[in-house]
Amino acid sequence: LARIAIFASGSGSNFQALADAISHEPEAYQAEVALVVCDKPSAYVIERAKAAGIETAIYHPKQYENRAAYERDVLARLQAENIDWIVLAGYMRIVTPVLLAAYAGRMLNIHPSLLPAFPGLHAIKQALDYGVRVTGVTVHLVDEGMDTGPILAQRAVVIEDGDTEDTLAERIHAVEHELYPQVVKELIQGRLQPSQPRG
Ligand code: GAR
Repeated sequence: LARIAIFASGSGSNFQALADAISHEPEAYQAEVALVVCDKPSAYVIERAKAAGIETAIYHPKQYENRAAYERDVLARLQAENIDWIVLAGYMRIVTPVLLAAYAGRMLNIHPSLLPAFPGLHAIKQALDYGVRVTGVTVHLVDEGMDTGPILAQRAVVIEDGDTEDTLAERIHAVEHELYPQVVKELIQGRLQPSQPRG
């Protein structure tokens, strides 16, 4: 089975959706969630990982000299655990070349907008503030940018009159929880290629 590390900084609802889906049918995924990497020692995802019986690696990035030093430590752990794939799920940190070089093409991210619109923090609020009628979810391969990298899949979510950040976030999260496991499965099985720029 391919060994997946999920990186998360927050509540971990996407971790939960992935861990549930994969543990439900490991042979269909040809994968297992082997590790949760967390850069926020108070994040709820740590409780979720423990409840699911999944190993956690918890870091205090501020205790390192710089981002590269932090990532070298993370990379050593990933290599010790024979991790094949990195799945970012609400990991609120830009990845440096240390991890990218080791996991090129094997690191993916989910973002709550139709990229390239509304990258970065508070993407759901950004979409509401702008006044767009449609937003959505993007899964993409990770590169050195913030929420950039070749797109693997997107789903639209219509913004309704009267939506608040909470009501819209609820619908976006429901789409994420369905889309992310599906994309992970197809990518690991080699049935999904990133889209190419056509310009
Ligand atoms: C998700 O909505 C994810 O798309 C977003 O953080 C949330 C994490 O929720 N990621 C980004 O904004 C990345 N720039 P979760 O902790 O409940 O999975």
